[in-house]
Amino acid sequence: MKNRLSRILRPKTGRSLILPIDHGYFLGPTRRLEDPWKTVEPLLPYSDALMLTRGILRSSMSAEIDTPIVLRVSGGSSILSDDLSNETITTSIFEAVRCNASALSLSIFVGAAHEHQTLANLAKLVDNAEGYGIPVLAVTAVGKELEKRDARYLALCCRIAAEIGARFVKTYYCEGFSKVVEGCPVPVLIAGGPRMETELDALQTTYDALQEGAVGVIMGRNIWQNDHAVAMIRAVRSVVHEGATPREAHDLYGELKG
Ligand code: 5RP
Repeated sequence: MKNRLSRILRPKTGRSLILPIDHGYFLGPTRRLEDPWKTVEPLLPYSDALMLTRGILRSSMSAEIDTPIVLRVSGGSSILSDDLSNETITTSIFEAVRCNASALSLSIFVGAAHEHQTLANLAKLVDNAEGYGIPVLAVTAVGKELEKRDARYLALCCRIAAEIGARFVKTYYCEGFSKVVEGCPVPVLIAGGPRMETELDALQTTYDALQEGAVGVIMGRNIWQNDHAVAMIRAVRSVVHEGATPREAHDLYGELKG
């Protein structure tokens, strides 16, 4: 367990930059993930872990990558559905072991129509995964209700995830974010969310989240939808692992993008 977790949360800094490319599991062919390998290959040297489904791992990744895998194992609804919370566990623990997953990720939808089902999914996954020493990352999902992302609600979600046994949690950055971290006994990482207006905004959000107690980011679209994705991931990485300020990281982005 500790060994798997330390492959993701890097022991030198205790932090992590996870690259998620699991969006297609309910969104279909997301822009820039049409050919996942083309997008991901140049970013792998700067990613501490890669988060994706077994289907994309099998069909589109090279078996030779040594980037730790965070396997997305929940799903069952699509963007066409009114209720995205109707999820189940889509991948067995045997498959996860076969895929050599370093961690498993699953969404919970607190306060949604299928709250109970998704929390029961988390409990079942933790029971199965702990037996194999595989940590579970709980994703506090809000479906289409993005306005739900306030500190009181997210603190509730993260705490419930930790109580059920998640070893780490992914949530959103929000005003009063330190309250979310304070109430959660396991490490918290933030999602990037939809493209922000500027690169500086994404770097500032990363910086603020870390200052307020996050241990890293699970940032997708703000990296791989950028026309200069390698420059962007290196800039984000400089904030996460090298203590760069948003301005310093932005200067690095400017230099690298040429
Ligand atoms: C998709 C996810 C994503 O992994 C998560 O939202 C992070 O990606 P992004 O930074 O693009 O929001 O859970 O369901």
